[in-house]
Amino acid sequence: MKPLDKDIILSQFTQRFGGPAAWVVRAPGRVNLIGEHTDYNDGFVLPLAIDRAVWIALRRRPDHRVAVYSVDYRQDGAFDLDRLENEKSGWLEYVKGTAWSLEESGLRLAGWEGVLQGDVPLGAGLSSSAALEMAAARAFTAAAELPWDPKPMALLGQKAENRWVGVNCGIMDQLISAAGKADHALLIDCRSLETEAVPFPPGTAVAVLDTSTRRGLVDSAYNERRAQCEAAARFFQVKALRDVTRQRFDREADGLDDVTRRRARHVIGENDRTVEAADAMRRGDAALLGQLMNQSHESLRDDYEVSNDALNVMVECARRHPGCFGARMTGAGFGGCAVALIDAQAAADFVQRTADAYEKQTGLHSAVYVCRATNGAEVV
Ligand code: GLA
Repeated sequence: MKPLDKDIILSQFTQRFGGPAAWVVRAPGRVNLIGEHTDYNDGFVLPLAIDRAVWIALRRRPDHRVAVYSVDYRQDGAFDLDRLENEKSGWLEYVKGTAWSLEESGLRLAGWEGVLQGDVPLGAGLSSSAALEMAAARAFTAAAELPWDPKPMALLGQKAENRWVGVNCGIMDQLISAAGKADHALLIDCRSLETEAVPFPPGTAVAVLDTSTRRGLVDSAYNERRAQCEAAARFFQVKALRDVTRQRFDREADGLDDVTRRRARHVIGENDRTVEAADAMRRGDAALLGQLMNQSHESLRDDYEVSNDALNVMVECARRHPGCFGARMTGAGFGGCAVALIDAQAAADFVQRTADAYEKQTGLHSAVYVCRATNGAEVV
């Protein structure tokens, strides 16, 4: 598929509204290099914003109405900013929920009309919903001429997802979509929300490997994992698992039941690995970064139990290629995508051979592509 760009979305707007758009905004999806299921434990994550995004072209309206046409769904949606009603499902609720969250924080919004289009695959674990929320937030701030500050906006996007859409996610997806830096990953401390842009090891590339498997029950499994982490934090009498060191875990974890102990072991180990991975990147150590990604996958598969067969096979296929430094599942899990760190020179061969091997072994279709790290939400 041809990637979306400003011209495409501008011409969609003109076709629809018969005049020029005043702004075009984009907010990217993300892939997480390492630091999985750590954000809601106040821990560390290391994602990058990718060159797949949600785009909105818009112009202000004189009233308080928001009228959006979704190119992907071929559907019109509209609502009144003074009377927001939750209709429970559909793409428009992400836009509406973001309006609700921004207004709740005291911001005065303006009406606008626009077209919306995205090329972040849905349900693949690449944060299409966070991208939509942050694109909406960027559109609302543009239309009302409000300043754009990525961190508070990410928090408002997360609030929309938690309280309007009803998904209990952490802060990673919205924050990387809001604050990503081109050509860098972002080390995020999910407690302080401090971020540091970290460069990729020279000569490496990041590949996304979509297994084409999707699982519906992610929400309940996700909430169950969160509850297990909270139980473990109570056991250690800390605010969050972020506060438990590996040493303390080794000394005291025997008092936990087997499942809770393994969940906590994943989170505590993953936090350490993520900090170490950022350090490896700063030093340009691709081999170490790759090893840490491999360990992360094993931990998510065996201790956190959020992988699936397709992801495990995809990761094995990727690792078999000589140009692969490391591979792991990425995102919440139970299907969706894996991520691999590869030798940039071998990228084309890696993509071809890994996709072939996966399809041969599973009989499933796959989509493997190299992605570029881009900026977070912006007016383009
Ligand atoms: C989903 C959530 C994130 C994070 C990841 C797992 O993407 O939205 O907040 O918890 O799962 O790392």
